[in-house]
Formats: sequence, C-alpha cells, structure tokens
Amino acid sequence: MADWIEIATLDECPPGISIERVIAGQIVALANVEGRLHAIDGLCPHQGGPLGTGVLCGSILTCPWHGWQFDVVDGRHQLSASVRQTVHEVQVRDGTVFVRLARVRGADA
Ligand code: FES
Repeated sequence: MADWIEIATLDECPPGISIERVIAGQIVALANVEGRLHAIDGLCPHQGGPLGTGVLCGSILTCPWHGWQFDVVDGRHQLSASVRQTVHEVQVRDGTVFVRLARVRGADA
C-alpha cells in the first residue's frame, strides 16, 4: 500500500462536490460522483486554473476560471479529444480516501 496516499476523508468530499488537494507536490482534483470518488490532475491545461475548486455537475467538472469542462471519470475535455487530464486511481477505506498518483501527462520524468 506504499503507493497509496491519503488525500481526504469521505466527509470532506460528499456527493456532488469536488475539492482540491496537493499531495506529493501534485495538485489533485477529487470529485464525488453519486458516491463514487474520482481523482484527476487538478491543474487546468488552459491557463493553470484550480479544477478542484470548480463546479461538479454529474461527472463533468467545470474550471472556475474560463469554463473548460472535463469528465472526472476519464479526464477527457468535453470539446477537444486531444485534451485529457491524467486520471489517478482512488480507493476508499474506512471513510478515508486514498489516491495512487499516475504520472501527470507532460510532466518531466
Ligand atoms: S484556466 Fe481553466 S479554463 Fe482557463
């Protein structure tokens, strides 16, 4: 379980809500879609907006800065197929949410 990092409690991210967290130096947007937790790269690829603080509607998260929209399930931008956020694995145990970070697209090795 060494790769799994605690990111929040379930109470901090109830259904219909997304939150922003910084773990291991990465900004993560954690979203609760009808009880299922999803995590994507929280740095908007447009101009670096804080995706996790955006509005979640269903599985669609809208960036608060200029409205780019992403599906938190697969990270896909809703208008451009070439834009896709990195998706991180999520696990919930005993009311605590853990994330296993994937390498963010475009990040240096
Ligand atoms: S920074 Fe996210 S839409 Fe512009």
